Parts: sequence; C-alpha cells; structure tokens
Amino acid sequence: MSDFSARLIAWQQEHGRHGLPWQVADGYKVWLSEIMLQQTQVTTVLDYYPRFLAKFPTIFDLAAAPLDDVLALWSGLGYYTRARNLHKCAQAVVAQYAGQFPSDPALVAELPGIGRSTAAAIAAFSYGTRAAILDGNVKRVLTRWAGIEGYPGVKAVENKLWELANALLPQSGIEAYTQGLMDLGATICTPKKPPCVSNPLTCPMNADCQARLSNRQSELPTPKPKKAVPEKSTVMLIIRNDAGQILLEKRPPSGIWGGLWSLPEVESTLAAGEIAAQKLGLHIELEPALPDFVHVFTHYKLTITPQPAYALGSIALHEGTSQWFDIQDALAAGIPTPIRKIISGKLGK
Ligand code: ADE
Repeated sequence: MSDFSARLIAWQQEHGRHGLPWQVADGYKVWLSEIMLQQTQVTTVLDYYPRFLAKFPTIFDLAAAPLDDVLALWSGLGYYTRARNLHKCAQAVVAQYAGQFPSDPALVAELPGIGRSTAAAIAAFSYGTRAAILDGNVKRVLTRWAGIEGYPGVKAVENKLWELANALLPQSGIEAYTQGLMDLGATICTPKKPPCVSNPLTCPMNADCQARLSNRQSELPTPKPKKAVPEKSTVMLIIRNDAGQILLEKRPPSGIWGGLWSLPEVESTLAAGEIAAQKLGLHIELEPALPDFVHVFTHYKLTITPQPAYALGSIALHEGTSQWFDIQDALAAGIPTPIRKIISGKLGK
C-alpha cells in the first residue's frame, strides 16, 4: 500500500484532468462545482457552471438572491433539492462563517446538502486539508484495488472503505491526490470494461490491484443484492354465458390495474365454483384450467391460472362492478395486458 498515493499523484499530473474551471483554491467555486458534479456529467457542468458564477459571482450574491433565481439557473440540471440546499448553504456560510467555508471537513459536513465525502473534497481542494473522499467512483477504485468483498452500500463495508481511504492519504499533495482518485475512477477504473482488461499499463495501480490480478474487474465492487421478488398467484375466471359473452369486473380505483376491467379472481381452483357463486351471484361450471403463466410487475411476480367456466344462468350481477362483454367490446375496453392475452389468445377466435 506504501506508494499508492505517490503513484496516483504522478499519474494525475501526467494523465489526469487539468484546467477545469473549478480547479482553484476558492471554497465557493469548489463547493459549487462539487454540488453540480454530484449527479451531473462534467460536460454538462462546464456549460452551467460559468453561467451560474456570472450571475452569482460570490457566495454573498447567491445568499442574497431569491430562491426562484437560483432555481431558474439550475433549471435542466435536475435534482432540485441540490439547488434549494445550495441556497440554504450559502446563507449558512454567510451567517456562520462570514462567507468563508471552514477548512475543517467536519464543520463543512454540517452545512446543508454536504455529505462527508463532498466536505472532504471541498476542504482538500480549497485549503489543502488532508481529508479522505469516498464517493461512488472512489469506492469502485478502492474495492477493486484492495479486493474488498461485499456491497459498498452496506455499513460494515463502507466503514472498511473509509478506513482504507484514510490510511492511503498522502502527507502532502492532497489536491492532486484527490483529483487523481476522481479522475482514475471516471476515466480508467470505469464500471464496465475498464481498459486494464486489455491493457494493464493504462492504470498506475495495475501491479497490485487485486481485482485485476484475479481477473475480477467485473465482479468488484460487489453489486447491490437483488431483493427477492415476492411471488403471488391468482386464478382468473374466464366465464362465458350462452350468448358467448365474457364476464369482466371493474377493479377498485386504486392499486394494481386500478379502474381497469379485469377477469374475476379467486384464490385457488379448489372451490372456485362456490366462491365465484358467492362473489358474483352466479352459478358456474368449471372447465379444465389452462396452463399457468407468469406476469412480472415491478415489485412482484404474479402466476396466473386461467380458469375457463360456463355460466349456468345469469342471475343478478353486482351492479356496476361486473358486466357481460362481447369479446370484441372487452378487447376495446381498458383491460390489463395479461387479461388481453388471455381473452385474445383463448377466446377471441
Ligand atoms: N466530480 C466530482 N468532483 C470532481 C472534480 N473536482 N473534477 C472532476 N469531476 C468531479
């Protein structure tokens, strides 16, 4: 680990990004750029940043401006909470620190909209304060280099990464080092297909990068664990009457398929006849069930058993919520996709 920082600084000086307008020892300018760069590409920020500074040349101008003017200049950058916090933060720095950002990252991190890593970047770039950053790009660089397993969003893994980030800090040259970490993460140690796969020499850490040495660049950092998708099941009744019509039910206005016409549902094919009779006021005779199929929603998987049935005489349907439809009218009504599949595939002939 000894010369990680020396290699990074040397690499930054030769291959890193230079001449960006926010690479100045000025807390206001550094802070503004860091907030803009949080969820926005450098090329976009290069467009917005000078316009913003032209309108608000100092933190005092920004603090004194109406929020609407700040939001107007932010328009198009998205994540407007950033703009609201920016305005609040400018006012706090003016009120608490006479317009000068503090050089202690712990104090910077208490200001609105500034997290631990951004606070460290501001202190390092503006004052040369020796403080560790750990944004998404840096997490990727460090997990690969040290071969750290586990999703970095997990607290224990993140703590380990902060410890490593602190241990790697150079005694001097924090500005080039911090910029180097950002540059390496953005240009070489990329999420997909980092260039070291085909040409190790592109990376100053190639000789001792654990991910590269074990060919696991695509496995580190460990991806966010996928939540198990809940699985539900339902039986959809395809009830026809003597006239060849099909019975549809209007779903409640809220929830899945809210307000759409759908097939009546029961929980299982067992006793489906009796339950349908109770729910619909209708006697039905079940036919053999059709093969199950799966419909995938954003938050769960639904296994649908289509259950054809024949109405043995239509007695009082529940007014308004159930209705007989000709197949063509059913297909023309607002119906969910899987229902359309069932009706058109099996019944629409
Ligand atoms: N992303 C966040 N901070 C940055 C910086 N100082 N230079 C380039 N990209 C960045």
